[in-house]
Amino acid sequence: MKKRIIALIMTIFCGLSICACGSENTVAKASGSHELIHEGKLVVGTNAAFPPFEYIGDDGKPDGFDIALIKAIGDELGLEVEIQDMEFDSLVASIGSKIDVSIAGMTITEERKNAVDFSDSYYDAVQYVLVPNGSEIKGYDDLKGKKIGSQMGTTGDFISEDIKAEDDSTTISTYDKALDAVNDLVNGRVDAVILDKNPAEVFAGQYDEVVALDGNDFGFEPEKYAIALSKGNTELGGKINGALKTLKENGTYDELIKKYIEAE
Ligand code: ARG
Repeated sequence: MKKRIIALIMTIFCGLSICACGSENTVAKASGSHELIHEGKLVVGTNAAFPPFEYIGDDGKPDGFDIALIKAIGDELGLEVEIQDMEFDSLVASIGSKIDVSIAGMTITEERKNAVDFSDSYYDAVQYVLVPNGSEIKGYDDLKGKKIGSQMGTTGDFISEDIKAEDDSTTISTYDKALDAVNDLVNGRVDAVILDKNPAEVFAGQYDEVVALDGNDFGFEPEKYAIALSKGNTELGGKINGALKTLKENGTYDELIKKYIEAE
């Protein structure tokens, strides 16, 4: 009798544990299928016109700090990395359908957080103001009523819209690429271009006619760059954050900063 009871208890116990295993598998599968568009591959969107973070290298392929960082993250996670170059303004909408993540010097904003999740931040930034040499623009109020250029859908674009809201005589020109805005600045079609610090410094170094002014003197808010991914894809988000942490701890992150940003 005792033996039979033990056998019965064991049968029930085994049955339960099989059940538990079974349901765990289903959960793992469900979140796994949500994790990546193609198994084993991380499809990454960027806008490769934003040096030193992303640009087209001499070999015609996207290169830059962000590209090297996401490739290192891919290596950590054992994933092949495929880069897709697209317009900055299309990145957020493409996440989860065309691309798994974006890395594009993208600032974490409350509005974007409604549509996507962000990884931990990997870089601190601020908007700068590019002006022609000898420009009278020195602070925020000087931008009011001026012709301001920026890249479409960027935080620089949002700042110019704020300025226009304060002074309707301000003219805003938006461009697909930051470089097109810089060309219009050089040609005198706009008075100032608002864009992120590091690209502004790169462009100021390339064009003698323009200087980059520190956005802190304009009262611009500090910004933080992060990798964007599908809302709720916490499994992938956790893996990316883990890889970022490892790369910071093992010195890879610092090496990439030296190679791509400090060598600017
Ligand atoms: N940090 C700015 C933003 O998030 C500009 C980023 C532009 N990046 C690019 N790859 N074009 O809006």
